[in-house]
Amino acid sequence: MFARKLSSWFLITGFTIVALASSKPWGKTPAGETVDLYTLRNAKGMEANISTYGGVIVSLKVPDRAGKLGDVVLGFDDFKGYLLPPPYFGALIGRYGNRIGHAQFTLDGIVHHLAKNDGDNTLHGGLRGFDKVIWKATSLSPTSLQLTYLSKDGEEGFPGNLSAKVVYTVTPNNELRIDYSATTDKDTVVNLTNHSYFNLAGEGQGDILGDELTINADRYTPVDKGLIPTGELRSVKGTPFDFTQPHVIGERINANDQQLVFAKGYDQNFVLNHPGLTTVAAKARDPKTGRIVEVLTTEPGLQFYTSNFLDGTIHGKGGKIYAKHAAICMETQHFPDSPNKPSFPSSELKPGQTYHTTTIYRFSTDAQK
Ligand code: BGC
Repeated sequence: MFARKLSSWFLITGFTIVALASSKPWGKTPAGETVDLYTLRNAKGMEANISTYGGVIVSLKVPDRAGKLGDVVLGFDDFKGYLLPPPYFGALIGRYGNRIGHAQFTLDGIVHHLAKNDGDNTLHGGLRGFDKVIWKATSLSPTSLQLTYLSKDGEEGFPGNLSAKVVYTVTPNNELRIDYSATTDKDTVVNLTNHSYFNLAGEGQGDILGDELTINADRYTPVDKGLIPTGELRSVKGTPFDFTQPHVIGERINANDQQLVFAKGYDQNFVLNHPGLTTVAAKARDPKTGRIVEVLTTEPGLQFYTSNFLDGTIHGKGGKIYAKHAAICMETQHFPDSPNKPSFPSSELKPGQTYHTTTIYRFSTDAQK
């Protein structure tokens, strides 16, 4: 017993003993694959639980302004909840985050037909995206976990064997850092993200309409009624999409704007003014608990989604009901449908190149400011 516990927490390499993240078996898939749950924790008590199924962030505990830890992501207590169809709570998304129109794209003159799982379109990688596969886990330290997955040539219709690697790190500054990388053996497209549903008041604690939000974006990519970008980069000025100054999310969500009607709320990609890890791309604050999350990313886009498609039928952790607008998603990404939009930043990856992106979710409270 002692030896088993020791071996799961420590790696003895030569004369040094390296501390690892703790883990426990969390269940088995219907196919009999083992699912493990890893815990990353920093010295301040911030804690992330991550599942090898879908690379899901199952829980994320951060302090409020009184120092009380709370779980700020929607999800399930039991891993079986994640076997159900969307909404992709906390999951890694690939090969292609968000939608590809008509479930096809042309690369090097070849038309690639993808799995359709959203009407005529492909959403979040298809029927069995990266959210529904088992990732191989390697603990790098008590605060860092590496997940890898080999997506075979032709999986969900995408070309090339794609080796994907994601490293989750809980930093000493209460940040959750996500480093994504990938290589391929054939020309392909790739767009990886994480689909956490944040409620800074705590998961299941009402809606997010009272949260205050800033997005450092002067433009966004409007969509058609199938939520596929039209190709236009539209100015946010004078519209409900202007979050360049802080606005309460609920203030304009029901405005008479065709984009809000199409999406039943916010569900658009924002064109970030300054991608990179030195500028805050988005910031949300819950006035009740004082919790703040700031998003920093090397990606050019951010999907701001107000969980419009949650309808109260999902019972999450502790049986809590997750209704419409129970969370916000801030999915960092290349723009939706880029493989069919030559004017958007390219999502192509070629053999010999390494895809690499980083996103940081930095937590603090308004008591610290
Ligand atoms: C999309 C929504 C979609 C949701 C699925 C988001 O990334 O933008 O349109 O319904 O994912 O949970």
